[in-house]
Amino acid sequence: MKKLGEVLIPAEAIRTRVRELAETISRDYHGEDLLMVGILKGAFIFLADLVREISIPVQIDFLGVASYGPGTDPSGEIKVFKDLNQPVAGRNILIVDDIMDTGLTTDYLLRLLRVRNPKSIRVCTLLDKPSRRKVEVGIDYLGFQIPDHFVVGYGMDFNEAFRYLPEIHRITAS
Ligand code: IMP
Ligand code: MG
Repeated sequence: MKKLGEVLIPAEAIRTRVRELAETISRDYHGEDLLMVGILKGAFIFLADLVREISIPVQIDFLGVASYGPGTDPSGEIKVFKDLNQPVAGRNILIVDDIMDTGLTTDYLLRLLRVRNPKSIRVCTLLDKPSRRKVEVGIDYLGFQIPDHFVVGYGMDFNEAFRYLPEIHRITAS
């Protein structure tokens, strides 16, 4: 059995960091077209908070991917259940995700989108667990690096539970 553990990142710390990321992104893409691509479902809160702190006009779309079976172990299989509605060719694309773990999902998405000939493609992720990486994937905008803990809240789930929590918690064995 798993249960909700202690708070790893409080809501206020997330808010501050999201604001900083938004400022950097706004500066980097000033005067440019930008399509921000949220990865469902985990990134829905992060993307919603991020775009409201961004000071340039951006467009928003979503990619739905499932990389995990039940529990906390990656199945190694990635399934796209919702593709983008918007064209990618010639545009600046920013992938916005909740957490990079093995890197397999982001690596897959980068390959999926690159063949559509974007002008540029970068990666923004709120959390990074570098110790779990299986493929090298660069992160252009990172919120926080965390140790190898399974975390929930702020959009992230354990078996679909805990996504609604405003702060990020660890999951512990009970
Ligand atoms: P990766 O392909 O192993 O990098 O996995 C990426 C995806 O797995 C993330 O976008 C999350 O949806 C999910 N994931 C990885 N680690 C965690 C975690 O600690 N809590 C919740 N979801 C996670
Ligand atoms: Mg995700």
